[in-house]
Parts: sequence; C-alpha cells; structure tokens
Amino acid sequence: MTPSDYDYLRKLLRERSGLDLSSDKQYLVESRLIPRARRAGLSGIADLVAKIKAGAEPLTSEVVEAMTTNETFFFRDKIPFDHLRDTVLPALVQARAGRRSLRIWSAASSTGQEPYSIAMCVKEFAALAGWRVEIVATDLSQAVLEKSRAGIFSQFEVQRGLPIQMLVKHFTQVGELWQLNADIRAMVQHRQLNLLQDFSHLGTFDVIFCRNVLIYFEQDTKVGIFDRLARLLEPDGVLALGAAESVVGISDAFKPYPERRGLYGLNVSRTARPGIKGMMPQVLKAVASAAR
Ligand SMILES: C[S@@+](CC[C@H](N)C(=O)[O-])C[C@H]1O[C@@H](n2cnc3c(N)ncnc32)[C@H](O)[C@@H]1O
Repeated sequence: MTPSDYDYLRKLLRERSGLDLSSDKQYLVESRLIPRARRAGLSGIADLVAKIKAGAEPLTSEVVEAMTTNETFFFRDKIPFDHLRDTVLPALVQARAGRRSLRIWSAASSTGQEPYSIAMCVKEFAALAGWRVEIVATDLSQAVLEKSRAGIFSQFEVQRGLPIQMLVKHFTQVGELWQLNADIRAMVQHRQLNLLQDFSHLGTFDVIFCRNVLIYFEQDTKVGIFDRLARLLEPDGVLALGAAESVVGISDAFKPYPERRGLYGLNVSRTARPGIKGMMPQVLKAVASAAR
C-alpha cells in the first residue's frame, strides 16, 4: 500500500466512523481490506481506493465497516452486569415506581452479546415483571446488527462469559448453534446508528452502556460524544464504559462512582442541560451508598 493510499484511508475512516489509526497500522488495514477488495473483484488496495474516490457505494460503507473491531462476549468484564443487577436496577425500580418503565441503550452493541446480557439481567429481575423495559441496541455496522437480530450464536460464543444456567434457560439448541428464545430477542430493538452523528432522536435513557468503542476514537471525538450522551441520560441515570475507558481527564459531563468501576453518573453541577440542577439524584445516591 502506498503512503498516500494509507493516508487517504486513515482520513476516510476518521471522518466516517471516528476510528483513529496511528501511522503504523498499514498491516491492519491491509489484512482487513485486501480480502474485501478481492471479493469486490479488485486487484488490491490501490484499486479499492480508486473506487472509493469515485464515490462507489455501498463499497465505501463496507470498507468502513470492515475496519471496525466487533469483539464482544456475553457479560463482558462481568462487573458492570453485577452492578446492574445488584445496585442499578434495584435503585431504578424504586425511583421509577410511578411510571413502571425503563429505557436502556447499548450504544455500540456489535453482534448482540451486550444488549442480550442486559435483557437477561432484566428478565431475571423479578421486581421488573410487568414493567415496560425498552432495550435499544445500536451499531454503525449493518452486518453485526443482522447477526444480533437473529440472536443465533455458536458454541464458542455461548461459552464465552455466559453462565450455563442462563444458556439452559434462555437459549434453544438449533443443530450446532444456539438461538436466544423469542422472549429475550423481543426485548431488544435494533437500529443502525453512527455515534459521530446526531442521536438526540433516540430520546432519554435511564442506563447507557457505551463500552469498548470510544477507545478507538481521538480525544476531541470522545469529548463531543460524552457531551451528547450526557444530554440523553436521565439526571439520575447511569453510564457504563468499558474496562479500559474512562471520562477522567476527558470530560466533566460525568463523574465516576467510587468503588463502582466503569460506572458514571451525570455531573449535575457541570452539565449544560437546563432544568436538572438541584434535582435529587436518587439513583445516584443509592448506587453510591451501596458501594460503601
Ligand atoms: C469492540 S465492539 C464493542 C461491543 C460491546 N459494546 C462490548 O463492549 O462488548 C465495538 C463496536 O462499535 C461499533 N462502532 C465503531 N465505530 C462506531 C461508530 N462511529 N458508531 C457506532 N458504532 C461504532 C463497531 O461496529 C463494533 O461493533
């Protein structure tokens, strides 16, 4: 790959998906895009770049998708899901007793293991029986959303992080594969969404999981996304980030919970959102005090 083709692809990826590639990742681009070029009947990266420059769609979107990292597994990192079950959902059940509804967003949901892990936690939380719980799963990539919608996983995938009791309870074996039962699949709504673009139309959420995606973005992009996530989180809502991600030193829109690794609440005194200063952050208090 020529340096100028690499520079062109780096810029394209930064603009279209936020992916911030360092100057030494040519091998990664080649390993992902040469097979993609061949499938499109092209001889290699130079041809692929020429097609993209000529405005070829859906090829350009497919190239952007091919460069995303979709690694995920059920109950990834375990701790955020323990927090969800043990402190966040109990606090929300009290705080939302009047309206008996919850909205939860998995903001880079990949092939579905994250939103379905959330759905299984919700399903098994007896106090939420009869509540309206919406789980919205969004991702840039159509391909991962399609797989997620089907809710079909290999033996290898269900062996990563999923407790055996949950496999038995919520999945049906189909040949060598496992399909999530219809009741769990029906709890998750899928939509394609690019976090670089406006997402205010999604409405507000009580819990947002935005995990293992911001890590690929440059600092300014992260700042902008944190600001926009803060506008969609209920004043007493909870944001969960990935184990290697944090708001610290990047955004003051959120503050971390002490001893609740990976969980953040709105920094009510700093947020630009009108009308929420001075609100009683009931859920925040319950989550924080459970951590003590
Ligand atoms: C590593 S996976 C994380 C999946 C899951 N959240 C987890 O933690 O296991 C990252 C996902 O982010 C998606 N992604 C990358 N850039 C994105 C963007 N600009 N907007 C929305 N999703 C994006 C990728 O398609 C990929 O499925």
